[in-house]
Amino acid sequence: MFDFLQKNGASMELAELIVELSRACAGISNAIVHTSTGKAGTQNVYGEDQLALDVQAENILENHLKSCPFVAAIGSEELDDLIHVRDDGKYTVVHDPLDGSSLVNVNMAVGTIVGIYEGSDLIGRTAREQVAALYVVYGPRTTLVLTVGDGVHEFLLLDDVWKYEGELSLGGDKAYFAPGNLRATKERDDYFALICEFMKEQYTLRYSGGMVPDINHILKKGSGVFLYPGMPSAPDGKLRLLFECGPMAMIMEQAGGSASNGEIDILDIKVKDLTQITPILIGSKKEVSRAASALS
Ligand code: F6P
Repeated sequence: MFDFLQKNGASMELAELIVELSRACAGISNAIVHTSTGKAGTQNVYGEDQLALDVQAENILENHLKSCPFVAAIGSEELDDLIHVRDDGKYTVVHDPLDGSSLVNVNMAVGTIVGIYEGSDLIGRTAREQVAALYVVYGPRTTLVLTVGDGVHEFLLLDDVWKYEGELSLGGDKAYFAPGNLRATKERDDYFALICEFMKEQYTLRYSGGMVPDINHILKKGSGVFLYPGMPSAPDGKLRLLFECGPMAMIMEQAGGSASNGEIDILDIKVKDLTQITPILIGSKKEVSRAASALS
């Protein structure tokens, strides 16, 4: 993976950091099989109950990142503040260690999401400043999808080694939709109408309840849209700008798609605080702009 990353324009430091992250994710893949799916007895900063696995995935990533000499700071969906790692570090790494973790005990796919910024502060910045982003899908197979700003590439975990599988890009024309937060249709007639249009137009529903596998479906099939809009009682929805939406938006844009909050590109939203959430419409450009006009 190191040589591949350097050939694709990553500096030696960035390539080493991503290789370290890929080792951590191989460890998380192993932990998913061997750790209890029970609760940890603690809550994260959003007040959500943590599973033992959430805590373990967080610890695995944190330990690997702290061992990497290029990491300045770490931000995580599971923590309320950045962890300062070293003054001479070059990158701040933000992550959602185990997205969709409540799906593990029913044996559905879950994921890790990571974004990488240069520097050690994130306030006032935008996700467009990320120098790399990746996600890992822990499903029947474990795959890692990444960008360092030169297209989107997929790796497969085989016997603890990440094997390059190929490039992913959008360009398909099959209509897939993944409608998150359908509860919003109680408060939003426009969302209900859009879903009805998709159904009448014979779009194919592909929705698992895990953002990572749902967006991975769009990237692998080459088309589609994932929606998690807000509603009057929760205008910004629930997905996190730094830990979920930002990295996914960079990957989708690099694959030829886009991501919007309904008004502006997710990559252009300024970070005001680490726990910021945002509505998201992400996938093929045509479908994202259709959803944005329908839901504006
Ligand atoms: O942010 C966690 C997450 O599980 C995402 O992976 C997923 O898309 C979303 O929440 C599902 O939300 P809800 O529980 O509202 O359906």
